[in-house]
Amino acid sequence: MGRLDGKVALVTGTARGTGAEIQRLFVEEGARVMGVDVLDELGEAVAAPLGDAAAYQHVDVRDPSDWSAAVAATVARFGPVDVLVNNAAVLEVASFEEHSHDRFRDVIDVNLVGPFLGMQAVLPGMAERGAGSIVNVGSIDSLEGEVGITAYGASKWGLRGLTKCAALELGRQGVRVNLVAAAPGSDDMSKPFFEATTAKLKAFMAAGGKAELGSPPVQPMGRGVGTTRHVAHMCAFLASDDAGYCNGGDYAVDGGFTAGHIFPGSPGTYGP
Ligand SMILES: NC(=O)c1ccc[n+]([C@@H]2O[C@H](COP(=O)([O-])OP(=O)(O)OC[C@H]3O[C@@H](n4cnc5c(N)ncnc54)[C@H](O)[C@@H]3O)[C@@H](O)[C@H]2O)c1
Repeated sequence: MGRLDGKVALVTGTARGTGAEIQRLFVEEGARVMGVDVLDELGEAVAAPLGDAAAYQHVDVRDPSDWSAAVAATVARFGPVDVLVNNAAVLEVASFEEHSHDRFRDVIDVNLVGPFLGMQAVLPGMAERGAGSIVNVGSIDSLEGEVGITAYGASKWGLRGLTKCAALELGRQGVRVNLVAAAPGSDDMSKPFFEATTAKLKAFMAAGGKAELGSPPVQPMGRGVGTTRHVAHMCAFLASDDAGYCNGGDYAVDGGFTAGHIFPGSPGTYGP
């Protein structure tokens, strides 16, 4: 028996990375899943091997008419939508001072307005049946600030606020809304961030700057940043009836990264 037996899910950003993993895991757990994205070839390629339980449709999450069409296609193919996972997002890497107005708007449009439109699109069906789960994929950047990603951080905090406001209003209709604050994600998204950071550091050192490269153990579990599978498992839990009393929460999948600060050398920091 799967945790999502009989459920119908609509998941955004399934062409690669976390969204692809969510679509795969949800099907393994018994759901039928409509994946949507703007990268159609990749999205089709993720859904095809999953058989009859999976399908793909082009949706730009910024477009309300794409959302209406996606909900209609999901209902026609699989039945009423029980679960929405707002996973699609974009990252812009720029210092606060260099961040352009246009790109700021673009990021907010995809990462915050997109999920809002998706929630409005699935709500009538969920409210009519008095049940539904909406999972918004946020980030550790929904819980903390971070340098070099102003618009992304603002969008992910906004998504957290949207989650809480919606949870307060929709709970009475049987619709739960939660946020997954993920640390892991795809390299496709994070690569530009690490490339930009490394390039800046190299330039700084080439110009005679001194940098402390021996980094303290910032990951409490001491084993990387986790995987997209870890994030997919949390999404599956929140989508399932096991999470029937979880509403309006932030669920960190970060190995404890946002639990607090680690001061190198403090008692308890390094040990056997
Ligand atoms: N990559 C990371 O390091 C990281 C860390 C924490 C949280 N996250 C979050 O995880 C989620 C998944 O990201 P990922 O890491 O898999 O990155 P990704 O870039 O591989 O996947 C994002 C997907 O969203 C799609 N998308 C972008 N704009 C869209 C639009 N307008 N309409 C529809 N689809 C669109 C992309 O085509 C892509 O397939 C995001 O919400 C992201 O913010 C990522």
